[in-house]
This record gives sequence, C-alpha cells and structure tokens, in this order.
Amino acid sequence: MKAFFIDRYGKDTGRIGEVPDPQVGPNDVLVQVHAASVNLLDSKIRAGEFKAILPYSLPLILGNDLAGVVLRVGSAVRRFQPGDEVYGRPPQARIGTFAELVCVNEQALALKPRNIGMQAAASIPLVALTSWQVLVETARLQKGQKVLIHAGSGGVGSLAIQLAKHLGAFVATTTSTDNVEWVKALGADVVIDYRKQDFAQVLQGYDVVLNSLGADVLEKSLKVLRPGGQLISISGPPTPQFAEEQGLSWVLRQAVRLLSSGIRRKARSRNLRYAFVFMRAQGAQLGEITSLVEAGVIRPVVDRSFPLEATADALAYVEQGRAKGKVVIEVR
Ligand SMILES: NC(=O)c1ccc[n+]([C@@H]2O[C@H](COP(=O)([O-])OP(=O)(O)OC[C@H]3O[C@@H](n4cnc5c(N)ncnc54)[C@H](OP(=O)(O)O)[C@@H]3O)[C@@H](O)[C@H]2O)c1
Repeated sequence: MKAFFIDRYGKDTGRIGEVPDPQVGPNDVLVQVHAASVNLLDSKIRAGEFKAILPYSLPLILGNDLAGVVLRVGSAVRRFQPGDEVYGRPPQARIGTFAELVCVNEQALALKPRNIGMQAAASIPLVALTSWQVLVETARLQKGQKVLIHAGSGGVGSLAIQLAKHLGAFVATTTSTDNVEWVKALGADVVIDYRKQDFAQVLQGYDVVLNSLGADVLEKSLKVLRPGGQLISISGPPTPQFAEEQGLSWVLRQAVRLLSSGIRRKARSRNLRYAFVFMRAQGAQLGEITSLVEAGVIRPVVDRSFPLEATADALAYVEQGRAKGKVVIEVR
C-alpha cells in the first residue's frame, strides 16, 4: 500500500512510498482510509520530540486521525463489520493513518457521523477527544461556569469552543484580528484579540483555562482564574501524574517532575489546580461526539485539504501555526 512514512527522525523527513499492508490482529479493524487529518503531534513525532515517551520503531507511518470504511475485522471484533463507515484516533502505540490501509483496535473506533463527509469526519477525532478529556473528564465543566479557551481558531480551540458552549459554559477565547468574527460565530462569548489586548488584563474570575500555547501564556493564565480554579494545559509541561500513567522510567519521572515544578508551585500558592492532559484514544467518547455532530451541536471545521502525495506540504502548512480549524489529507 501507499503511505507517508519516516525512516529516521528529523524536521523535514518523511516520504511517500510502498509499504507492506498491515496485519489484522484478533481485536483489529482493517480500515480503508478515505481521509486523515494533520495534527502538530505528527510534526513533533517526526522531529523525534516524543522519542522518550513513545518509543516507536522505524520505519514509522505517521498520522493520528482517520475516517474510512471497514474492509475486514479480526476474530474477536464485535462492534464493527465490513462496510461500516468509521472514524477514530488509533491508540498512540499504533498510529499510521497517512496510508491507504490501517489496522485499529476496535475500542478506538466509532461509527462516522452520518451527516458529514469523510474529510470532515477525519478532522474530528484527536481534537474532539482532547476537548472532551479536558472539559468533561478533567475540568468537569458545569453549566454557567466560565472557561477561557486559548487559540480558539486552532484545531483544538475551534472544537473546544463548541463543546464548552454545549455544556452551558460562558466561553472566552484568544485569537488574532482576522479571526475575531469567525470564533464568535463558533460560539465564543468574549474574544480577546491577542495582537491588541492582553487577556490577563481583561479576564478574571474564570473557573477553567484550557491552555494550548507556550510557557508565557500558561503562567499569565493563572491570573484569570478564581481561587479553586483549574489550569489545564495540553501543550505542557507534563506532570508527575502523567509520567506515572505513561509508565516512564525513574529518570524520566524525575525530569518530568522538574519540568512542571514551577507552574505547579505557582498554582498551589494561588489555591489553583494545575493539570496536564495527554489525550488518549477512546471509541466510546468518540461515539458521544458522533451524536453531537449528528445533532448539529458540533460542526467540524476544515481549513484546507491536501492529497496524500502532498502530505509533507500539509505538515509544513500546519507547522506555520496559522491554520483555521483542521488540515485534512485526502487518501481516497
Ligand atoms: N496534549 C494533548 O493531548 C494535545 C492534543 C492536541 C493538541 N495538543 C497541542 O496543542 C497545541 C495546539 O494544537 P492545535 O492542533 O489546536 O494547533 P493549531 O490548530 O495548529 O493552532 C493554530 C492556531 O493557533 C492560533 N494561535 C497561534 N498563536 C496564538 C496566540 N498567541 N494566541 C492565540 N491563538 C494563537 C492561530 O491563530 P492566529 O492565526 O489567529 O494566530 C491558529 O489558528 C499544539 O502544541 C499541540 O501539539 C496537545
């Protein structure tokens, strides 16, 4: 089959080539990929930034999101059958959706929303699961609570705004001038244009912040939270709890502890909670998201699409950091 893969880590590595078809295990669903979507995670994996946490063997097919049609199922698979239209984010140990075929554990898949096409569906899993795991699972966001979602025009932000509004929250977000009206249309109640305003001077008394930006924004976000509020970051730094859950070695656990000790200490001194979320594949949660998409509550946002042959260009485009919503790879 054709796939985009790397045979060494590095910033601009990766090429399209022929690779062996995947082997279908008992719990696997073999999916003919129609579309995939690009995440910054793909670039970070390609550059080797996750080597210590996710020790992949090379060559490695990249890609963390897919939508497609089930071709075959393993002997233990119960929930899917050939012909089903599915979407998902494969478990982190077995990625590889920039390919014509991929095998995914059935627990990671859900039926694709019936009201949208393959490209729109492929744009959803990783960012929607991230939003769900931050806002529902970790923050336990309640109706009437105030949440600040940074980078509202990004892949995660554009989805998280819609989910937070569905949960009944009051939503503030940050974006640049050109995207202000656009994020309002997604549902944001307050939009801070980061080129003209400092969010930390304007917002206060927030219950939750979802941070996907750098260390400066993370630290400033402490100021907008009420005592008892939660600062939840998906862009780091990771916490000792994360290191524990990932089963990292003693040395790495100490390194992780050090990385986040400053922000954890500052959060504690203000009576705030700091958490790092590293999203995980979860077909059951994705099933809930399917219902929200079919009910018109969540609308996928696709910025641009690229053919599989141009995957390197799609990665370069996302790495510029200006994408509005998601970037999709058309595989079929
Ligand atoms: N831990 C996890 O499980 C997890 C899951 C998903 C993503 N992530 C991480 O979260 C981060 C965001 O991911 P993403 O896919 O949402 O990124 P993305 O789609 O590439 O983000 C691009 C968006 O960021 C906005 N942006 C850039 N600088 C900004 C600033 N200073 N203030 C406000 N908005 C700004 C841009 O808007 P403008 O053009 O208007 O500037 C653009 O729309 C990445 O680091 C990613 O690796 C982590």
